[in-house]
Amino acid sequence: MSKKIIVIGGGPGGYAAAIKAAQIGAEVTLAEASQIGGTCLNVGCIPTKALLHIGEFFRRASQNTVAGVNISGAALDWQKAQAHMDEIAARLTGGVRALLQHNGVTVYNEEAVPLSGQKVKIGDKTFDADAVILALGSVSAMPTFTGCDLPNVIDSTEALSLMQVPKSIAIIGGGVIGVEFAALYSSLGVKTTVIEALSEILPSIDAEIAEIMRGALGRDGVDVFTGARIVDIAQSSGGLRVRFDNGDEEQTLTAERVLVATGRSPNTASLEQTGVKMIGGAVDVDKHFLTNIPNLYAVGDCNGTAMLAHAAMAQGIAATEHIMGVPPRYNAKIVPSCIYASPEIAAVGMTEQQAAESEIEYRVGRFSLIGNGRAIIDGEEGLIKVIAEKRFGEILGVHMIGPRVTEMIAEAALCMSMEGTVEDIVTTIHAHPTVSEAFQEAAMSVFGNPIHGVRSGIES
Ligand code: NAI
Repeated sequence: MSKKIIVIGGGPGGYAAAIKAAQIGAEVTLAEASQIGGTCLNVGCIPTKALLHIGEFFRRASQNTVAGVNISGAALDWQKAQAHMDEIAARLTGGVRALLQHNGVTVYNEEAVPLSGQKVKIGDKTFDADAVILALGSVSAMPTFTGCDLPNVIDSTEALSLMQVPKSIAIIGGGVIGVEFAALYSSLGVKTTVIEALSEILPSIDAEIAEIMRGALGRDGVDVFTGARIVDIAQSSGGLRVRFDNGDEEQTLTAERVLVATGRSPNTASLEQTGVKMIGGAVDVDKHFLTNIPNLYAVGDCNGTAMLAHAAMAQGIAATEHIMGVPPRYNAKIVPSCIYASPEIAAVGMTEQQAAESEIEYRVGRFSLIGNGRAIIDGEEGLIKVIAEKRFGEILGVHMIGPRVTEMIAEAALCMSMEGTVEDIVTTIHAHPTVSEAFQEAAMSVFGNPIHGVRSGIES
C-alpha cells in the first residue's frame, strides 16, 4: 500500500517535497493557506531578480555604458516593470500548480495545523497520514526600535510593490536583502543609503568579497555606514528621519522610505500546540529533517538551517526520500549561496576566515577578472578565490564576485560534492572566452601560476 504524506506549505521546500513524494509512489496532499510558490516565487527570489534585471538594463541605458551604442531618453516605466515582474511570478506559480496536478498531488488552498506526525487539520477537516512535512517558510523579522511601525517604513515584500519609485531610501541591514535592494534602487536612480550594525556588510560572505561589494556600491552612489546602531526613526517634514550612532558620534539622515532588512524569522506560529522542539525560534531537526515528534519533518526556512530556496528544495526532497526509505544524499556543507547585486556574488563552502579559524592547513588561490577577456567585454571587474586543503588540494570553498558568477558556482559545488581537487579544475578545459576560465586560473594560482595573471595565492 502506498504511503500517505501531507505537506504543509507550498513554497520551494513544500512543492519540491510533494512532487518528489508523488514521483516515488506516495499519495500526497499539500495544504497552502496563501499562494503556491511561497515567498520565493511570489515576493522573494523571482520578483526581485526580475526587477534587478530591469534596473541593471536601465542603469546601463541611462549611463550609456555600452561602447558604440548611443541611447538617449532612457526612461523607466515603473508600472510596466512591475506588471512584467507579476507576469513572470504568475507564469512560474502557474507552472508549479500544473506540475502538482500532473503528479496527482491533492492541493488544499486552506490553513493547516499539524496535530502530530500523522494527523493534520486542514480547514475544518482532520486527515491521517504516515508522515507530515512542515515547509512553513519565514517572515520578515521587524526589530523593536522606535519608529519601525511608522508609515513608509517597509519590509522587502512592500519594497517590491511601491506605487512609485521613491526619491530616496534608507536600508537598515546590509545583509543579502539589503544589498540586493541597494543594487536595485540605486540602478533606478534612487538616493540609497545602507546602515549596517556590524563592522562590514554581508557578514556571512568572505570578507574580501564583501569589501569589493562595498566598493561597487560606493561607485554606484550608495552610501554605506557600518558599525552603526539605530537610535530611532521619526517622521519629519522632509520624510523619515533616521538617527544612528557609529560609536563615536550620532548621525542623522532623511529618506522618503526606510526598508528594514534585518533578517527573517522562521514562520512557526502554527506550531504552538504541537509540542515540537524549537531552537532559537526555529524547528529543531536532525540530519534527516525529522523533528522530536515521530514522523513529523520540517524543511526550508522554518528549520533555520539554511534560509535559501534551493536548500529548501533539497531538504524537501531529502525528507521525502527518508520517509520512503531512500538512502540520504543531502550535504549540508555544500550549499551554494548567491547575491544578485551588481556585480553578482556566488559562494560555496568555507570562507577564508572559516578556514583560518579551523585546524585545516590551507592555501588560497586568487584570480582578478582584470585578466579575463569575457569580463572585460562585459565591462565588469571582479575576483575569484579558491580555498584548498594544503597537501592534496581538495577544494574547501570557492568565492566569486563578478559577471555571471551565479551561473558559475555550480561547477565549484559539483567539484566539492565529488571531493574534487584544484588539479581537477586546472586540468578541465574551460571554454574561451568565458568568465568561467577565471575559476580555472584561480585554481592554477593555488599551487602555481595562472596563465593570464601573476600569482596572488597565500598559504596558512
Ligand atoms: P541577513 O541575515 O542576510 O542580513 C541582515 C543584516 O542586518 C545583517 O548584516 C545584520 O548584521 C544586520 N542588522 C540586524 N539588525 C540590525 C540593526 N538593528 N541595524 C542595522 N543592521 C542590522 O538577512 P536578510 O538580508 O534580511 O535576508 C534574510 C534571509 O533571506 C537570509 O537568510 C538570506 O540568505 C535570504 N535571502 C537570500 C537571497 C538570495 O539567496 N539571493 C535573497 C534574499 C534573501
